[in-house]
Amino acid sequence: MLPFRPAPSWLADAVLYQIYPQSFADANGDGIGDFAGIAAHLDHLAWLGVDTVWINPCFASPMRDAGYDVSDYLTVAPRYGTDDDLATLVERARRHGIRVLLDLVAGHTAVEHPWFRAAADDPSDHRYVWADADPLPSGFVASPGTRPGGYLPNYFDFQPALNFGHARPDPAEPWRQPVDAEGPRANRRALRAIMDHWLTRGVSGFRVDMASSLVKDDPGKKETARLWTELRGWLDEAHPDAVLLSEWGDPAVSVPAGFHGDFFLQFGGATDGGPLRSLWNTGTGTDRDEWDPAPCYFDATGKGSFAGFAAAYAEATEAIGEPGHIALPTSNHDFSRLACAPRDAAQLPAAYAFQLTWPTLPAIHYGDEIGMRYVPGLPDVEGSVLTPRYNRAGSRTPMQWDDGPGAGFSTAPPERFYLPLDPDPARPSVAVQRRDPGSLLHTVRALIRLRRATPDLGSRSAVRVHNDGYPLVYSRGEHHLVVVNPSDRTATAPLPDPAHARATRLIGEGVTVGPDGISVGPFGYAVLRH
Ligand code: NOJ
Ligand code: CA
Repeated sequence: MLPFRPAPSWLADAVLYQIYPQSFADANGDGIGDFAGIAAHLDHLAWLGVDTVWINPCFASPMRDAGYDVSDYLTVAPRYGTDDDLATLVERARRHGIRVLLDLVAGHTAVEHPWFRAAADDPSDHRYVWADADPLPSGFVASPGTRPGGYLPNYFDFQPALNFGHARPDPAEPWRQPVDAEGPRANRRALRAIMDHWLTRGVSGFRVDMASSLVKDDPGKKETARLWTELRGWLDEAHPDAVLLSEWGDPAVSVPAGFHGDFFLQFGGATDGGPLRSLWNTGTGTDRDEWDPAPCYFDATGKGSFAGFAAAYAEATEAIGEPGHIALPTSNHDFSRLACAPRDAAQLPAAYAFQLTWPTLPAIHYGDEIGMRYVPGLPDVEGSVLTPRYNRAGSRTPMQWDDGPGAGFSTAPPERFYLPLDPDPARPSVAVQRRDPGSLLHTVRALIRLRRATPDLGSRSAVRVHNDGYPLVYSRGEHHLVVVNPSDRTATAPLPDPAHARATRLIGEGVTVGPDGISVGPFGYAVLRH
């Protein structure tokens, strides 16, 4: 027997779209995106064919980490509008057939949150991991209040970890409380109340920030998993049509814990994000010293390898079984976009042909559908710079709607924009690509339509990789073959089956299939039916 109800059936066919609210569309001309701006562009999302939107945190916040420092979970940030504006957006999205997921920052608050302000003055408060010790244990931050000692941060120092307990309590270190102590129990109840609040207002679920971080010193994440299992049990009863997707990066652990799905990410799992990076990472956008500098698979030199990703995907799929999903993002607000030097927009149709025909929940980061590029050299805005080589701002620039001066993002003077627009005079835009049937935007749309029209290409049918070099060749279900060449030279492969010689091309460019095999020109791709 499954420990949970099966995931809501809508999730299996979902195509996700991530909206960074401050950068998507500014309706009131203050230079920062807002809910009304999103609502005004729902027709673009519906036309594109996405049906589930995840909005990065849009709650009251001092915005030192772009909203991942929440000071009130139950009120939206005024810069995006009012609670009513969010409700209007959710309702309009519903009418366009689009569900809205919010971002639940479960592991920490802002230091400005009233819970934290109270805790900083009250030694009997256990909502945070507080050490009344001198000297402070390593990693703790000194108290900003009248209370002695200090607190454990979860990410930046101004993001105090909510106390969900330690898996291995120790009376000699009293800040290591058991998971069922009063503070941790209050925080679990609070998570439930926050979810209930927004679900009751029509949202369809959450992407949960740093979902693996809750219980501290938790080998194998066993206690953190127990916490999410308990919450999923509640959700299954109270909101059975809602979903929880985790920012965990390890579906084999997070899905059995209770998430309906998890993302393959630039971090997480046995190789700390190796599988996703082995597809996309060009080493020139957001980059870390410890990341493997080997070329990724979607690299024009044709020197990458698909095998590591395929093995990790197969292993995760096996571990999560039927009820779970793995989401595969084009990029996200923390990681380089697909168009990141030296990879340019010409190389992206092949990447999308893969992403939109793989058995996954595809997730498109806003702007990737037109090939917006990772913009290097931007200032540190709201905590975007993590290290000198890791500036997340490059993946957070304003959406490029048209080729006007403000790119249709905002009418504010450019110096008031949340982040500068991509200064490239040839930057792509939605309006220009809408007029060009050969554009990336039309290709992405056509691939989404094909996926929806073809159950073989969806998240539930089998995949079999026939060639994991260049070109990539795999079967989907009984009747579909996908061929993708991310390299800048012609690549050939044998036919997996002689019957494929007579296959019909449903979409693609640069692919010939005949009795002698498959030949794919530079950056070519095709979906074939046989
Ligand atoms: C992960 C989020 O994606 C990132 O943007 C944020 O800075 C950290 N979690 C802290 O919440
Ligand atoms: Ca605005």
